[in-house]
Amino acid sequence: MPPQARARVRDAVARRATGRSLEGPFYTDREFFDVDIEAVFARQWLFVAVDAELPEPGDCTTVEIGPYSVIVLRDDDTLRAFHNVCRHRGARILDPGGGSTGNLVCGYHKWTYGTDGTLLHAPSQPADFDPGCFGLRTVHVRSVGGLVFVCLAEEPPADFAEVAARIEPYLRPHQLRRAKVAARTDLVEDGNWKLVMENNRECYHCDGHPELLRTFFPTYGYTEDNVPAQLRPAHERYLRADAEMRETYERLDLPYALIEELHIRPTGFRIQRDALDLAGESFTPDGAAACCRLLGDLATPRLGHLALHMQPNSWFHVLGDHAITFGVLPLAPDKTLLRTTWLVHQDATEGVDYDPDTLLRVWTATNEQDARLVARAQQGVSSPAYEPGPYAPTEYQVEAFCAWYIARLREELQR
Ligand code: FES
Ligand SMILES: [Fe+2]
Repeated sequence: MPPQARARVRDAVARRATGRSLEGPFYTDREFFDVDIEAVFARQWLFVAVDAELPEPGDCTTVEIGPYSVIVLRDDDTLRAFHNVCRHRGARILDPGGGSTGNLVCGYHKWTYGTDGTLLHAPSQPADFDPGCFGLRTVHVRSVGGLVFVCLAEEPPADFAEVAARIEPYLRPHQLRRAKVAARTDLVEDGNWKLVMENNRECYHCDGHPELLRTFFPTYGYTEDNVPAQLRPAHERYLRADAEMRETYERLDLPYALIEELHIRPTGFRIQRDALDLAGESFTPDGAAACCRLLGDLATPRLGHLALHMQPNSWFHVLGDHAITFGVLPLAPDKTLLRTTWLVHQDATEGVDYDPDTLLRVWTATNEQDARLVARAQQGVSSPAYEPGPYAPTEYQVEAFCAWYIARLREELQR
């Protein structure tokens, strides 16, 4: 971190008031953005893909993380990740996007790497050239219940294995490794990555989501004693649905308890199986399943949703009939990529078992509504007149995100 940036970040971190939004430069300033890459995205485990994108040996995808580009690839049964940087003179090897590859061939001078990253061929090198010294630089990669995470740090946060072990039993019944990608969308939002994450951590703004609120209870984030009067009817419906869901979860032996450790560990997370309104099966106008072929070997579609949030860059909704993953990657101080992926059972047939329009409708609309809110927030916090404002109690997860983030900056400042 350059000394000037270090001083500015240190002062802003010291001024951070618990329970209030962050100061403007955290969202708008290039130096702060670069620090975010260094302190967060180059250090933490990041959700970047799903196993279902890479079902066969040789399947690969690339992910851009700030100035880094990473290749994620299936090599036989093993997932591997490499820096997308040729060991000759550094050229980018694979273009953005996914596909399938036998060997990885750099387009510049044709250095050729195997799918395990070893350098197989470097034309016209002298006899004493040792290809063993020039394999692709590896990146840590790990699949958790069909969700693929990478970590750019040499020493990743040590608590990830424990978090993975606690999350996997929730995900296992849905068998996302055996799913197929029904659709994927990339949405570039006009806002800082933290505004995208913060927006997702609260439902204070949820009356802007009419499609989602058909089935998602707007009481998310409230407690029994602070549910506002106008949400009481929804809360009563939630309590009835919740009681029924708990019986179902117990009967089917599905883990459902809330675990909320958003800011007390490096790999902050929150997981909970929770009821949905109406038919309680899926994010559709009537709550009925969007795909008639259920995930895994699930016995009923009426399971509500498994909601998982992970710091710093992802959230997930895993239902009986499909799953939706959301990955957030920073592009610039005021630009963020939101990648959304819809998964269905691998044998589900489009047009027969599911209608893609029905499957995608709610979260496509919700993402676009959220993007507009994030862009408005970005415009506002860019004004010199902006000053941090107070979170409501129902925004406690936004505070937890900021507390987690500030803790990562503190760690970085101590390095
Ligand atoms: S930079 Fe890749 S082969 Fe030369
Ligand atoms: Fe939203």
